[in-house]
Amino acid sequence: MTPTVAMDQQEQVSARDLLSDADLTPGDLALIFDLAERVKASPGAYSRALAGKQLAMIFEKPSLRTRTTFEVGMTSMGGHAIYLDHTKPRLGERESIKDVARNLERWVDGIVARTYAHQAVVELAGNASIPVVNALTDLYHPCQAVSDFFTLREKFGRLRGLKFAFIGDGNNVCHSLMLTGAKLGVSVRVATPAGFEPKPEVTEEARAAGRSASASPQLFHDPFEAVAGAQVVYTDVWASMGQEFAAHLRSQVFAPFQVNNTLMATACRDAVFMHCLPAHRGQEVTDSVLDSNRSIVYDQAENRLHVQKAILMLLMQAETR
Ligand code: CP
Ligand code: NVA
Repeated sequence: MTPTVAMDQQEQVSARDLLSDADLTPGDLALIFDLAERVKASPGAYSRALAGKQLAMIFEKPSLRTRTTFEVGMTSMGGHAIYLDHTKPRLGERESIKDVARNLERWVDGIVARTYAHQAVVELAGNASIPVVNALTDLYHPCQAVSDFFTLREKFGRLRGLKFAFIGDGNNVCHSLMLTGAKLGVSVRVATPAGFEPKPEVTEEARAAGRSASASPQLFHDPFEAVAGAQVVYTDVWASMGQEFAAHLRSQVFAPFQVNNTLMATACRDAVFMHCLPAHRGQEVTDSVLDSNRSIVYDQAENRLHVQKAILMLLMQAETR
């Protein structure tokens, strides 16, 4: 069947895999945003863009948004996604990660993987000739960050210089927002309790990435200081997947970092509230903020679909025009 998109021009990202936000150049991000915008506006034009392509999706952790959006994304472009449950045994336990990669590359055209250890996706990519996309590891969640900045570009019409505050745990989502933000000219102001800062090497990497755009992340221990005048207030769970054992202790340490009406009142008057979801209502965010008209969390969730379709097309070298 003839693809409904024209075949004359091939857009290309420099990345072969998407393992970390560091893999994408500002030019790659611009290509992804541009294609995602077209995909969102005219999904029907891309209904055969990945015709006949197969995607393996390895999940060591639960997922609602990531699994659904990748699967719907593949199906809506004429391809197919296969869910591989690796909650038990974990990836690498039944057979080596190298062998998993070397089998999968014989059958499918791409791999999406959500793992605990970031090294697991690095090892998959190192042993597979097909693109590998990080669907969240303990270190990064690049698909989330790229989608979130796409959402902000829709809301504000620009990104450079946006006043962005991340409140809570210096986790995988925080790392990805700092890194991708730095490349887009957004300096992310991160407020965490002492001892829960983002990893110093990731902060340093983001500082280096943001130097040319004067968009280095800044760290705080006072949420009010970070949020003062912010246009974007973002939070995430206090205990990420795999840290449930520490949830009770964390809920006490993180209590002053709850995003509630009092904290939101110190942000810019038109500030938006963001969360990657799932949210623990009443912990890191109150219902009054999550359900308010400032909250754009479901727009974020929707855009995961459009942005990941663009990422898949660009990495799987589909015709995109
Ligand atoms: N935000 C996000 O990645 O959600 P899931 O864990 O449901 O995939
Ligand atoms: N930081 C969270 C994000 C979930 C999408 C986690 O890793 O569980």
